[in-house]
Amino acid sequence: WPAFSDDIDAILALKRERNAVILAHNYQAPEIYHCVADIVGDSLALARKAINVEADVIVLAGVHFMAETAKLLNPQKTVLIPDMGAGCSLADSITPQDIRLMRQRYPGVPVVTYVNTSAAVKADSDICCTSGNAKAVVESLGVPRVMMLPDEYLAQNIAAQTNVEIIAWKGHCEVHERFAPADIRELRAAHPGVIVLAHPECPPEVVAEADFAGSTAAMSDYVGREKPARVVLMTECSMSDNVAIDHPEVEFIRPCNLCPHMKRITLANIRTALEQMRHPVTIDPAVASRARLAVERMLEI
Ligand code: 13P
Ligand code: SF4
Repeated sequence: WPAFSDDIDAILALKRERNAVILAHNYQAPEIYHCVADIVGDSLALARKAINVEADVIVLAGVHFMAETAKLLNPQKTVLIPDMGAGCSLADSITPQDIRLMRQRYPGVPVVTYVNTSAAVKADSDICCTSGNAKAVVESLGVPRVMMLPDEYLAQNIAAQTNVEIIAWKGHCEVHERFAPADIRELRAAHPGVIVLAHPECPPEVVAEADFAGSTAAMSDYVGREKPARVVLMTECSMSDNVAIDHPEVEFIRPCNLCPHMKRITLANIRTALEQMRHPVTIDPAVASRARLAVERMLEI
């Protein structure tokens, strides 16, 4: 990685100096994911592994809600996000006020919120979920009906797998909503035998045409386990780049939808984050204690 060696060397030295670790989501660029990250994974793995971090400083190479989750689980540590603008269209689609209105409309129905939400929204929910555990979380509540907010497509995809009635919201991931069933048909025609894996934030019609749907970690595990000759991942671009490096024997077909929020994180701003200790994530303590409960309930499942 000669083009990046200056930043990589500086980051590795700064991590030792600051006693810092870098948690990176599967959508981070390969030079981050493979060269400087200490812990990589999907949202669920990053939350689980954040609990056991012993370093003083966590740099979250991902989006803001992931940094907030790491902070909720490590209130005494410094959690840095290299760019405060690294948001998420799902997190932006719902507010605590919306949750309160939904509770008025559906009294007594528990609220399951996707981790792709602000801490303030988590604080007003009963339990969180990720794409990796949504079905288990919904079924753990032992009730016939739940609200699952804010990702409409994830809610519909989970509803297809369970007898629990699911009330959805109208949020969408701006990356996954762009995939269409016609894309899959074209890919299958152009690349005979290709195995199609889709993220459950894709519309249900896309998931219906895929061979497998699962979280980013589940897609990565599928490739490692099944070793398909040809595969296409209907998800963010860097995911294929990262998995392909670990599986040179697999041919990756790469339709590419970038997440502009994930791509705000670069080696250069990770380096600056560690040099200048910026931007520390802060959460109002009254919000944090309630939001932490919702995340911890999820992690107990
Ligand atoms: P995962 O939890 O599957 O990693 O997904 C997070 C995300 O932001 C997908 O768009
Ligand atoms: Fe949010 Fe979609 Fe980007 Fe994931 S890929 S961070 S859900 S906008």
